[in-house]
Parts: sequence; C-alpha cells; structure tokens
Amino acid sequence: MEPLIFVIDDEEDIRITLQGILEDEGYRTKSFESGEEAIEYIKSNEEPDAVFLDIWLPEMDGIEVLKVLKNKRPHVPVIMISGHGNIETAVQTIKLGAFDFIEKPLSLEKIIVTTKKALEFKELTIENQQLRSKVKRDVVDELSGKSKKILEVKEQIEKVAPTDAWVLITGSNGTGKEIVARAIHKKSKRANRPLIAINCAAIPEELIESELFGHEKGSFTGAHKLHIGKFEQAHTGTLFLDEIGDMSLKTQAKILRILQEQKFERVGGNKTIEVDVRVIVATNKDLKKEIKEGRFREDLYYRLNVFPIHLPDLRERPEDIPILIEEFIESFCRENGYKPIEFTKDALNQLLKYSWPGNVRELKNFTERMLILHSGKKVDVKDLPKEYRMESKENNVYHGINIFNMDFKTARAEFEKQYLIQKLKEANYNISRLSELIGLERSYLHKKLKSYGIQTNNN
Ligand SMILES: Nc1ncnc2c1ncn2[C@@H]1O[C@H](COP(=O)(O)OP(=O)(O)OP(=O)(O)O)[C@@H](O)[C@H]1O
Ligand SMILES: [Mg+2]
Repeated sequence: MEPLIFVIDDEEDIRITLQGILEDEGYRTKSFESGEEAIEYIKSNEEPDAVFLDIWLPEMDGIEVLKVLKNKRPHVPVIMISGHGNIETAVQTIKLGAFDFIEKPLSLEKIIVTTKKALEFKELTIENQQLRSKVKRDVVDELSGKSKKILEVKEQIEKVAPTDAWVLITGSNGTGKEIVARAIHKKSKRANRPLIAINCAAIPEELIESELFGHEKGSFTGAHKLHIGKFEQAHTGTLFLDEIGDMSLKTQAKILRILQEQKFERVGGNKTIEVDVRVIVATNKDLKKEIKEGRFREDLYYRLNVFPIHLPDLRERPEDIPILIEEFIESFCRENGYKPIEFTKDALNQLLKYSWPGNVRELKNFTERMLILHSGKKVDVKDLPKEYRMESKENNVYHGINIFNMDFKTARAEFEKQYLIQKLKEANYNISRLSELIGLERSYLHKKLKSYGIQTNNN
C-alpha cells in the first residue's frame, strides 16, 4: 500500500493544495481541520506514515498537537507548516521532535523532497528499533553446525527464502525452529519489512482470533477500541506463527482461508481486509498424530506441507556438538567476559554420548553453566554435572537399543540379558563368582543364562 500522509490545517486552500501535490506523487492522503480530529482518528484507525501540521491552529495549537503525536506515535515524522514571520517558533518545534518545517507560500519542490526524506526517516527508525530489539534478545540468525543434516536445512532455507511460499518448520524443543524462521525472513525480499511473531501456545484460546485478525471497537465485552491484529501488522512482511499445533480448529479454518485468499475480517467486523503476508509456521508436535486425533485440520496440513523443513534432534548429529560448544564459548566470552574453557577429550566424549533432550538450547545453557563454574580452566569428566557424567548407555540405552521404546516384558528381558552379559564378564565367566557378585542363586542363574542363550564356563 502507498504511504498515508495526514494534512492538518484549518485553511481549506492549504489542505487542497497539499493533498493535490501529495496525491500527484502517488501518496494516499487524509486531511483534518483540527489537531483534535486527527488525534481522535489515529486512536482507532490506520496510523499515518507522515504528517503535515500547521503551527497556527484555532483551538489546540500546532505545538500541542505535535507533543501529543510525538508521545503517541514517536516514530511518525511530523512536518510543521509555518507562516512567514514565525520561523523562530518553527525552529522551536524541531526541538520538540518535529522532523522539519516548510514555509508558506508552499513550494512544490520543498514539499516533495521533505516528504520523501520523512518517509525514509520513518523506515529507518523502525528498522533501527527492530535491530535494537534483536540485539537485546541475542537472537543469532545463523544456524551453526556442519553435519549433513544441518547443511541440508541451510540449503532448504536458501531455496525457500526468496519465494513467497509458506513454510512449515518442525522439530523438537530447542532445535532451532525460531532461528530458521528468522533466517528465512532475513534472506527474503521482505527483509526490511516487519517480522511479526506470535506464539499460539502462549495466548489463551479465546483471544487468539482477536490477536491474529484484530477486532472492531465494541465487538465483545472488553473490546474498548479497534485492535489491529498481527496479520495487518505484518502487511508486506512476514508473520511467524509459532506452536501452530496449539491453535484451535476454528482459528485453523480462518488461517486456511487466508492461505487461499489473503483476505479476512476483523473479529466483529464485516469489512474484508486484504493483506500481503508471508507466513512461516512452526511446531514441535507431530501434526500427523494431531490430525489422527482430530486436533489439526488435514487440509491445512497439506497446504502447509508444501515446503516443510525438519530440524533434527541434536543427538542425531553429534558431530555438531563440539562445533556448537566452541561457538557458544566464544560468544559468551565476548559478551559476558568469561575466560574461555576447554573440555578434555574424555569430557567431550562423554558429552557426545549424552542424549541432549533439550537439544541446542540445553547445550547452550550447559556451556554457559560450565563457563561460570570453570572460567579459564580445563574441564574434565569429573567436573561435569552428574547428569552429563552418566553414560547414556547406563541411563536408558543398552548397547544402542532404547528400552523405552519397548513394552515392559521386552524391556525387562533386554535389560536382564545385557546386565548378565556384562556382569558375567566382570566375574570372569565364573558362575559362582557371578552369583556372589549380584546376589542370585546359582541354580536360578543357570536357568536365566540358558534362557537367554548366554555361554558360560559351566562351573
Ligand atoms: N544450529 C544452531 N546454531 C546456533 N544456535 C542454535 C542452533 N539451534 C538452536 N540454537 C540456539 O538454541 C536456542 C533455542 O533455539 P530456538 O528458540 O530457535 O529453538 P526452537 O526450536 O524454537 O525451540 P522451542 O520448540 O522450545 O520453541 C536459541 O538460543 C538458539 O539461539
Ligand atoms: Mg521456538
């Protein structure tokens, strides 16, 4: 949509002239006879991209209006219109945050140039705010890792980013889904447009629709004023719907319609709003299972699944662990002034065996914890927290077999077998010694070993 510019002046001639010039340049305009009207309008309607404001207004004067505007919409540039003879006042308005001023009689060229600069300024201000909030939240936009699986993900990002296709990102907790969403936006042609993120799981079900689509004033109790939803906020940019598996079926139906038509209505409204939004969704749920259990629309799934990106668990790509650790050490040291640490070979081996249920997030937190505890030192196995020292084999995996995927009987049999093989070895294949070692009757042991087909020295 073209930029919207307000003209606030009590003189009709000035309004007509300015609007004429601006519209010839292709901008949309809206004019007001008084500041009060403009302020009232902004409360519940689209905000302007720039404002032309007369210094001399009969009721609330331009300076007061400027103060209110700057307070309510600090990033909207305001250009003052000054009559000759009050240049001093005009200069004063700059100190109050006005972007610039133009003098009457109006000069066509000055108006056009100033408008262009003001619009650029607004873009920059917004970009700046986004950059700053990004730095604050320490969101790295790059996926680290060199495993085949991660390289594949990176390749998929490169391919899909420049298109407008919707993307479905799946993966367990902490595998980097948000990083992928941000990377796609950053590498897309919408990169300098807003990226609006919303976590569907964090918003109560009854508020989600209004958060996404906005609501009209008075559409339900508590809707005191018009609310612009995330879809409208993300217009020309990207909307990141996180935890989409937690969205209600009703909202899913609305989303499906947007996917097909890029159109929707605000809650309680009947005006159809068209938007140009690229949507990226993420979930850690198994959507196929959700479909089977009636919690996710199959048609929506197939529409979303056009470009799926799956993030593998960290344990499926252990070769990335040392690389990630090294990068986290470096960035934590740079930002927080810790002294670097180094893991011994044994410690690193231990970490490679660990199952990392919290994936990269857990690895990142672990690394910082180690930096705090062992700043500047070598970290050996004995320095690792207990849960990381336990061999995952002892923990839950028996020689590569995960007993937690089995029913009770099979799991118990598997455990007994592996346990006896190991202990028999420790007892030098001597059953009497084994009997002592683990506290079981010899005759019972014989039976057990035989049933599992384990060879002994027969003594
Ligand atoms: N490949 C990676 N390289 C560098 N940092 C990563 C990588 N993957 C994840 N991280 C980091 O791990 C943390 C978790 O990542 P992110 O929030 O993207 O995960 P997620 O999949 O969205 O998790 P959740 O399902 O819990 O929302 C973040 O601090 C992120 O910076
Ligand atoms: Mg996430």
